[in-house]
Amino acid sequence: MDRICIEGGYPLKGEVSISGAKNAALPILVSSLLTEGWNTYCNVPRLRDISTIIKLLIHLGAKVEREGDIVKVDASGLKNYDAPYDLVRTMRASILVLGPLISRLRKARVSLPGGCAIGARPVNLHIKGLQQLGADIVINHGYIEAEAHRLKGNEIYFDVVTVTGTENLMMAAVLADGVTILRNAAREPEVVALANVLNRMGASIRGAGTSVIRIKGVKSLRPTTFTIVPDRIEAGTFMVAAGLTSGDVKIRNCEPDHLEALIYKLRQARIIVEKTNGNGLHVVGPEEIMSVDVETLPYPGFPTDMQAQFMVLMCRASGLSVITETIFENRFIHVSELQRMGADIIVSGNTAVIRGGSRLSGAPVMATDLRASASLILAGLVAEGVTEVSRVYHIDRGYENIEEKLSNLGARICRIRE
Ligand code: UD1
Repeated sequence: MDRICIEGGYPLKGEVSISGAKNAALPILVSSLLTEGWNTYCNVPRLRDISTIIKLLIHLGAKVEREGDIVKVDASGLKNYDAPYDLVRTMRASILVLGPLISRLRKARVSLPGGCAIGARPVNLHIKGLQQLGADIVINHGYIEAEAHRLKGNEIYFDVVTVTGTENLMMAAVLADGVTILRNAAREPEVVALANVLNRMGASIRGAGTSVIRIKGVKSLRPTTFTIVPDRIEAGTFMVAAGLTSGDVKIRNCEPDHLEALIYKLRQARIIVEKTNGNGLHVVGPEEIMSVDVETLPYPGFPTDMQAQFMVLMCRASGLSVITETIFENRFIHVSELQRMGADIIVSGNTAVIRGGSRLSGAPVMATDLRASASLILAGLVAEGVTEVSRVYHIDRGYENIEEKLSNLGARICRIRE
């Protein structure tokens, strides 16, 4: 298994270009199942999760062509309706095929994802919503088995804000009879991107980006071309890296409007963040970082996917900070690894109290999930000596060429392939 080694102590300087958003690309690639003919997607990041969803699309009978950051999908030959355990187990977002399969084939058999390192992560709201649209669903041998002679629009209220739940229901409702209204829908930019793609295909979706989405079913959809929006979490990770290392980094090809909560918190921590012409940000780290409290929330609140990275920043701040995780019940697994590097953090329930200013020292550490891995690499950038992060397959799920991008900014980082 590959490892990433980082020698800490070098401020990041220069420019970095942000890749397309994984969490937008996944549902958008899946939306091709709703059409017959070639869909073309540009700016698709080269990531392990993208390869997994492509494998699943091919398994279902779609033709896929991939060249650089362009992916073309033609689902005319869609024939299978099952998402097997092996694929869903490696990537929970495979659940996104449930809605489109029911919509197009009237049938689906999708493995239940089960829990993961950061929490139980049920999909009950996906299932309940699809049932409300008229699907018959049973759980059998670990699989969600669904059938629907026809889907009919309905009013659906999500008890909890769910991103992939909103996306799944949107993809099921676009071809349903009549009008569907999703209440307490997720407002994430990735949901808006998916709605934009579906509308380009001929769907009628209004209100994406607000908590009420109205979908008027149409008879059929046509293939389209779309450029994936920039990855706000990758951009955010580089912003924190710049601030953390007292660096000076220009972040290109990002969407500053999607990063408002993080920008606000970084500024409170005394990090200079300026919007530049075009889609860019200029981030300059101060000598002394101030401590700031953070609570994760659905968009437009502070993203849970930036919590681990922000915690590393707070390890370097003066004073105490409190980080509250409200989205996932077990998303502090990076804490014990950061403690091994010398961080002073106490966790109680969903709250972490960080006493900033302690000296971090390089150590062998283990990545446990995608964003936790990013936080360990960030910690390595400012730790004394060498940090060796193992199980980096987690990072390859969601960060394109992270060591190359950091290395171009002056970090001493390398991958040891095994
Ligand atoms: C998506 C993102 C992930 C991000 C998360 C929260 C993708 C591919 N992944 O994950 O990176 O961390 O949003 O911003 O876009 N829940 C239920 N029942 C359900 C569905 C969700 O109780 O049926 C709960 C979850 O356990 C969690 C909360 O709702 O506590 C939010 O989860 P959700 O938004 O669904 O996360 P994902 O869509 O899986």
